Amino acid sequence: MYTVLIIEDSAIKEQLKTVSYGQSQITDASHLFVFCNYSKVTNDHIDAYFSLKSEIEQVDISNFKGYADFIKSDVTNRTLVEKNKWTSNQVYLALGNLLNACSELKIDACPMEGFDAEAYNKILDLDKLGLNATVVAPVGYRSDEDHSQNTHKVRKPMENLFIEYKQHKEQPTKRTLKSALLFSFY
Ligand SMILES: Cc1cc2nc3c(=O)[nH]c(=O)nc-3n(C[C@H](O)[C@H](O)[C@H](O)COP(=O)(O)O)c2cc1C
Repeated sequence: MYTVLIIEDSAIKEQLKTVSYGQSQITDASHLFVFCNYSKVTNDHIDAYFSLKSEIEQVDISNFKGYADFIKSDVTNRTLVEKNKWTSNQVYLALGNLLNACSELKIDACPMEGFDAEAYNKILDLDKLGLNATVVAPVGYRSDEDHSQNTHKVRKPMENLFIEYKQHKEQPTKRTLKSALLFSFY
């Protein structure tokens, strides 16, 4: 339940910078991704999702009725704050994917929450679209003048980041999978 805006327009980025504590990444970046969660979740949104799922998976929509009803009743029972948290959490999964994709393509990105969300909503007319700005990510190819490129990445030591609950006797295949995953995660 989210939408991603991709802003290239310099005039809009300039306006957004003023409500982002003047942070220059907003205007330095070629593309500003603004991740927005749905400010209201209705049954129509859930129906739209299942209609898309039915079309893509080529499964009759009636097969998803039970699942859709379950989500509708679960969502209806949540407070507005809980609904916002749920839709915002989804946004962070998408942000993670963007960061991974950028990293693969050697493109720089800076996830940012340092901005006035209400001001973003106003400038981008998001209320009309039923959206709320959650988190932003300026994205672009690295400039030679970016001094931060020379500073070391600060990463927790692996033993502080992970707590493992090991099998008594680990299978060799599992060990291979784990080292491959940890290596790329890190
Ligand atoms: C919740 C959150 C909000 C952040 N907001 C900003 C921000 O507004 N401006 C900024 O320059 N960095 C912000 N950061 C920090 C950048 O994302 C930070 O540079 C980045 O996480 C460091 O990544 P790196 O170690 O891979 O370079 C924020 C980080 C987090 C976790």
